Amino acid sequence: MGKMDFTNHHKEKLLNEVYGKLQHGASPSHSLVSFLRSTPISEWLKERKDEGPWAELGCGMRSLFESWQDIFDLGLKNNLYGLDLSSIAIERAQQYGTIHYQQADCTLEIPHGPHAVILDGHFLHCLNSVPEVYQTLGKIREALIPGGIYIGEVMLAHKSLSFDTQFEYDVQSNLLYKDDIPSRIIMDAFEWEDMFVSSGLKIKYFVCQSSIKIIPEDSRDVAMNGDPECLRFCLERI
Ligand SMILES: C[S@@+](CC[C@H](N)C(=O)[O-])C[C@H]1O[C@@H](n2cnc3c(N)ncnc32)[C@H](O)[C@@H]1O
Repeated sequence: MGKMDFTNHHKEKLLNEVYGKLQHGASPSHSLVSFLRSTPISEWLKERKDEGPWAELGCGMRSLFESWQDIFDLGLKNNLYGLDLSSIAIERAQQYGTIHYQQADCTLEIPHGPHAVILDGHFLHCLNSVPEVYQTLGKIREALIPGGIYIGEVMLAHKSLSFDTQFEYDVQSNLLYKDDIPSRIIMDAFEWEDMFVSSGLKIKYFVCQSSIKIIPEDSRDVAMNGDPECLRFCLERI
C-alpha cells in the first residue's frame, strides 16, 4: 500500500488490532483534563449544561467523561456520548463504561447531535490528511448548536521537532508517518489558526503551550524536547 492509499477502512482494521491487544483503556490525558478544568473553559462548559448533548470524538476504550466527576455532578450523565472509529475500542468501553458509546467515523458524521459541547479526545491530529481535518471541522460545525463549542488540544510544530527512527515527518503535507502509515498531523500555530478560521467556527480560545509536549509514540511515556508542543483551543459555532 502506497502512502496515499490509506483509508479509514484500513485505519479501523489497524486500530482494532492495536485495541484488541490492550487490556484496559489508558487513563485520559492529564493535560486535556487539566485544560477542561481550567478557567475560562470550565465556566463555558457549565454555561452549556442544559443546552443539549455533549460528545467526545476519539474516546478510545474509555471516554474522559468517565473520569471527570465534575461533569457527572452537573447531572449530564444521560446526555454524554463517546464516539470512536474502532469497533473494538467501543465494545470494550461499553463493557465497563456508564455513558453512551457508539462506533462512528467522525470525519463523515457526528451522531446524536446537535451538540452543545464537542470535546476532542486527541482525535483531530490523528486524522489522515490536512484536507480531512478541514472536512471534519465542517462536520463538527454542522453537529453543534449555535453557541455550541468544540474544545481540544492538537500537536504543534516547533523548530526543534525530532522523532524516533520509525517515524518520518513530511513538512509539505504536515503528516507524520509511522512505518509509511499516516499517524499524526502536526502544524504550526499559523497553519492551525488558518484552518480554524476557514472552517467558519469562531476562535474563542487559542493558546500555544510550549511547556506541554504531546508524545506521538504510544510506547513511550517520558516526553522529549523534540516532541510536538501543545495547542489548546476552543471554537464556537456562531
Ligand atoms: C490518540 S487516540 C486517543 C484515545 C483516547 N481519547 C485517549 O486519550 O486515550 C485517538 C483516537 O481517535 C480515534 N479516531 C481516529 N480516527 C477517527 C475517526 N475518523 N473517527 C472517530 N475516531 C477516530 C482512534 O481510534 C483513537 O481512539
